This record gives sequence, structure tokens and C-alpha cells, in this order.
Amino acid sequence: YDIMPSLVGSEMCIRDRLKPMYLGIDLGTSSVKAVVVDDEGLVQDEASAPLHVQRPGVGMSEQHPNDWWVAVEDAVSQLEGWSRGVRAIGLSGQMHGATLTNKDGQPLRNAILWNDVRADKECAELEKRVDVKGITGNVAMAGFTAPKLAWVRSHEREIFAATTKVLLPKDFVRFCMTGFFATEMSDASGTLWLDVNKRRWSEEMLEATDMTSSHMPELFEGSDVTAVLSAEVAERWNMNRVPVVGGAGDQAAGAVGAGAVDEGKALVSIGTSGVIFVPDREHLPNPARGVHAFCHALPDRWHRMAVTLSAAGALTWVARITKAESEAALIDEIEASDARAGRVYFLPYLSGERTPHNDASATGTFVGLSHATDRAELGYAVLEGVAFALRDCQQALTEAGASPESMDVLGGGAQSVYWGKLIADALATPLTYRRDAQFGPALGAARLAILGNTGRAVSSVCSPPPFDYTIQPDPAKVDLMTERYETFRALYRDLKERFASLR
Ligand code: XUL
Repeated sequence: YDIMPSLVGSEMCIRDRLKPMYLGIDLGTSSVKAVVVDDEGLVQDEASAPLHVQRPGVGMSEQHPNDWWVAVEDAVSQLEGWSRGVRAIGLSGQMHGATLTNKDGQPLRNAILWNDVRADKECAELEKRVDVKGITGNVAMAGFTAPKLAWVRSHEREIFAATTKVLLPKDFVRFCMTGFFATEMSDASGTLWLDVNKRRWSEEMLEATDMTSSHMPELFEGSDVTAVLSAEVAERWNMNRVPVVGGAGDQAAGAVGAGAVDEGKALVSIGTSGVIFVPDREHLPNPARGVHAFCHALPDRWHRMAVTLSAAGALTWVARITKAESEAALIDEIEASDARAGRVYFLPYLSGERTPHNDASATGTFVGLSHATDRAELGYAVLEGVAFALRDCQQALTEAGASPESMDVLGGGAQSVYWGKLIADALATPLTYRRDAQFGPALGAARLAILGNTGRAVSSVCSPPPFDYTIQPDPAKVDLMTERYETFRALYRDLKERFASLR
């Protein structure tokens, strides 16, 4: 009598685990996240494995590609119970990283990441040499891949000469999984080698960095099947040799997960970086204020986004240097203290800034410190500074013709309602929270795998997840935030020249 119910339970469990499932793997900056999703798109299980960033110099940010693969295998092994049911896999990842390999896919150096700004000078040179904005619809930014290759060409000539393939981070993982060099449009857009409008490599952009299309992986759409899992990896992961679809850069993948594939939707993502994202049905470049106009992860769709480089990354930084127990503990401390909008301001330019300044020289800056300043006040200034940087992003998108009336929230920072209220007030915009928002890009990657494997309609797979709640901006606080935002903006204007001379 005692045994029967548990037996029934475990049989159900095994049956459940043989239902068709889809695996989404997101190679983030601070961790790899993997989710198993059923064919309704509901998350059944999740796993993660941490990653660390190496900073060999000011403005530099690197990771070794082999560490990505170790973390991916770690996360996938935690989901072993589901593996026999997996029908297809989708990949998502941190964008723009330069992963240089030889012909066998062996990395030749650490990957240079999206928030590494060493290639600042190379951007100006590139813009002089070729019509970057005209060809790509984007301005050259230090974080993008092409300027990084120009940096390697001038500083590490032997490595440049030995480079046979340049891969984006998730596409290195794809190579480890399948032995095949492939990428897709959304991530390829962030290289600056793609003709984003025509969705093909630009010979002119490649030539400007002494590259050819043979250095590039083959191009696919995000829901196309690119290759199948190699026999060796399939055996190790206890899976069939299932297809691996193109997937997407983390922002486009997050949008697919959040159901933001059509005009009229908008997202704010609070990950290591902070992003405001709007889908488009055509390529709508507006590079003047650092707005990115990239391909979306689905055919015939594009998107615009504004990117601030340090969002949750700035919170992690201040929690670490003030020896707070964790980011969440610091937010609790801020909430419990009377740290409020006061004297201290923070410019969150720990890795320089993309939108709207495109300024690799800008640095993180506290203004207004006194003997009375404590950890909670510093922490508050950081949360507020990131909220203001997002307002800068919102403003740049407004100038580019996109003014969303509300936004869905994605990313790790989405877990703090306190921070959400501050951001809603800074943006004067309602923020909607949906179930599974924390899985963002991994969920989107799994959805692309469903699309690729079943051929189902986009509308049936890419709907917004169930609604949780909305944070409305508080009109009284919006006024105060607007006043403080003007000071925040003025501080950057005051310091701009100084930042450049301090490099
Ligand atoms: C987007 C960007 C970041 C990274 C890391 O352009 O650089 O969001 O993709 O998440």
C-alpha cells in the first residue's frame, strides 16, 4: 500500500520525460543557462553553470572559449533526466565576442567580449576606410567584432595571420556540438560584417578588416536547422543526433522568448547589460545616437535596440566592492535604509558606453560623496544611474521614431521589484512582468528549436508568456526622477572631454 502511489508517481515521471522536449542553451556572460521546454513552450526544467570574466587591462574583457564549453556541458548534464526526449536544440549567447580559431576550430586566444572597448581607435579608422553606416546601418562601436579583428591585426599579427575562422560565442559552442561552422542573422548583425538589410556578408566590410567570407561561418536564419549533434556529443549527453537550429544573439532570442517578434511590442532587458528592444518589419537604421538596427531571429524581421553596457553588471560590481553579501542582499539593505534620491549620482560607464554616447573613454563615476555616504547610498545611486542610462536609451529610440507605451521586462535584474519601480519611474513607462522572464534568451532559443523542428507558425510558438503583474510609474516620483535625470545628463556633458583626456 505504501509502495504503490510512489511507483505510479515515478512511472508518470518517466513517461513525462519521454514527451517531445526542446533544449535551449544561453551562453551568457556570467553563466550558461539551459532550459527544457515542452512542445507547448512551457519550461519543464532549468540548469545553470557559472562563468567568470577576465580583465587583463582597463577596458578589456575576455573569456576562454573552452570555459564556455565546460560550462555548457555542466549545465546540460544537470538536465540528463530529460535528454532522451529532446527533439531539437536552440542556441543563444552574448553577442559580438571575437572567437578566433584555426581551421580545426581550436581557439587561438581568449575571446574578446562584447563589453571590451580596446578597439576604440580601430572604429574611427574603419569609418574612415569604408561607409560603415551606409553598408550596415550601424555606427562602428568598440564592442562590435570587426573593430576587434582590426585591433588583433595591429597588435597580435601572428594570431591574426593564423586565424581561419571568426566565430561568435554561441557559434563556437555550436562547433563543439556539431563540428560545423554556422551562425545566424541576428548575431551576425553585431559583427559589422553583415549587410543587415540584405541579410548577407558584406565583402566590402570584410575587406576593410582584411577578412574574406571564408573566415566567416555559413549564414542561416534563427529557426533554420544548421547541423545535427555529433555522434560523440550525442552519446555523452544521452541524446539522439538531434538538429541544432541557428538560434539567436541573446537580445533577439530574449525577444522570441517574450513574444516580441512583431511591431508594437517592446522589451527592457536588465542583464549584465541593459537593453531596450523593439521589433520591426523592415530595416530601420538610425545610427546617429548609437541605436543598433539588426536582423531579428526570424526571416524578414529586423529590430532596433539601445544598449547600455553596465546594468546588472554595475550592481554586481558595487555589491562586490562594498562586500555586500549578494546583489539581492544589497537591494534589501537599500530598501530598508533611508537611502533615497539624494546627493549621490552614479554614471554607470564601467565599460564605457554604447547608446547614446558611443564613448569608449567614459568611466564609471560617483559624484556627491560625503562622510555620511554609506553602502546603501552608493547602492541606491548605482540602481538609479542604471535607470537613467536606460532613460538615455529610451530617448535615443524615441529620436529614432520608436516610442513604446509599455515594455515587458526580461533578465536577472527583473527579479527585483524595487529596482523595477525605480526603472518604471525613470522611464515614465509601465513595466510588465511575465512568467519565465528570467529564462529569456534560453527560452527563446528553445522556441526557435520548436519552429525549426516542427515548421509550426511563428504566431503559435512565439506568443508572450502568461502575465504576472505590471508596475505603473508613480507620477510624483516621475517628476523627481526627471529632475535628477537632467543632472545625470549634464554630468556626462561636463565630464566628456575629461574622460577622453584621462585615457
Ligand atoms: C548587445 C550586447 C549585450 C550582449 C551581452 O548588443 O552587447 O547585450 O549581448 O548580453
